[in-house]
Amino acid sequence: MPVFWNGQRVGTRPEPVDIDEDTLQKIANMTGGKYYRADNAQKFQAIYGEIDKLEKTEAEVKKYADRVLDGARLAPGMTLADIGTGDGLIAFSAIDRVGPSLSVILTDISAPLLRHSEALAVQRGVRHQCAFIECSAEVLGGIADASVDAVTTRAVLAYVPDKIAAMREFHRILKPGGRLSIAEPVNRDDAFEVSALKRMVDALPAESGNDFFHLLHRWKAAQYPDTEEKISANPFTNYSERDLVRFALDTRFARYSICRDSHGVPH
Ligand SMILES: C[S@@+](CC[C@H](N)C(=O)[O-])C[C@H]1O[C@@H](n2cnc3c(N)ncnc32)[C@H](O)[C@@H]1O
Repeated sequence: MPVFWNGQRVGTRPEPVDIDEDTLQKIANMTGGKYYRADNAQKFQAIYGEIDKLEKTEAEVKKYADRVLDGARLAPGMTLADIGTGDGLIAFSAIDRVGPSLSVILTDISAPLLRHSEALAVQRGVRHQCAFIECSAEVLGGIADASVDAVTTRAVLAYVPDKIAAMREFHRILKPGGRLSIAEPVNRDDAFEVSALKRMVDALPAESGNDFFHLLHRWKAAQYPDTEEKISANPFTNYSERDLVRFALDTRFARYSICRDSHGVPH
């Protein structure tokens, strides 16, 4: 707690903390996680060191980006549109793969992210190969019909409310025979599990004294919507991989191939 002297904050005094370690440990075991507690600076450093070693996100993201690019089958002289480019991971990897004859259109709904990826393009010396367009995936204004050889998108449709409109736009800008290659997280099943957990918690007697499932529900509900209505209304959870394939087929993509943890949808 903060300590004041003559109205000035002069430091902090450690407070006794009441943590239900048993429950937190149980949650970690149940969810395949790990429970850590640091009560001094040294332990804190040691735990951070251990967590750093566990951190695989960057490598995972790169793996998905590479698979998306494999699906796009880019070749010299082609034009790629990378939709929802973020910091240009896929766009710049594509340029690294194909070389100076590849043109890339980088789109994003976020102007600051586009400015950031433009600065990265300058740093990498590839600005002249890139065009930057601020737009939503649902309306790719500024990209002409049948003007690109491939469309890529990774972890973007999960944020797009009207995924069919986005697929229509991908189809519109692709040349005949062009390819769409996408990778999206599919969160619906996890969200359904949380809604089942909520139903179970709601059915527990109020005075059961069992805090474990309440706590588990609060933690999970911070990550996923926890009712079927909310799941269907949320673009992050309201689709499965089969829906993505159906949207693509409905928008006249001719053939598709699908992988369990990423999706390539050839045109
Ligand atoms: C998780 S990031 C993925 C970035 C990039 N595709 C990658 O593979 O690293 C999601 C990106 O989608 C963008 N985004 C969110 N909603 C969008 C929309 N409706 N249309 C286009 N981009 C959108 C965000 O601004 C962000 O850059």
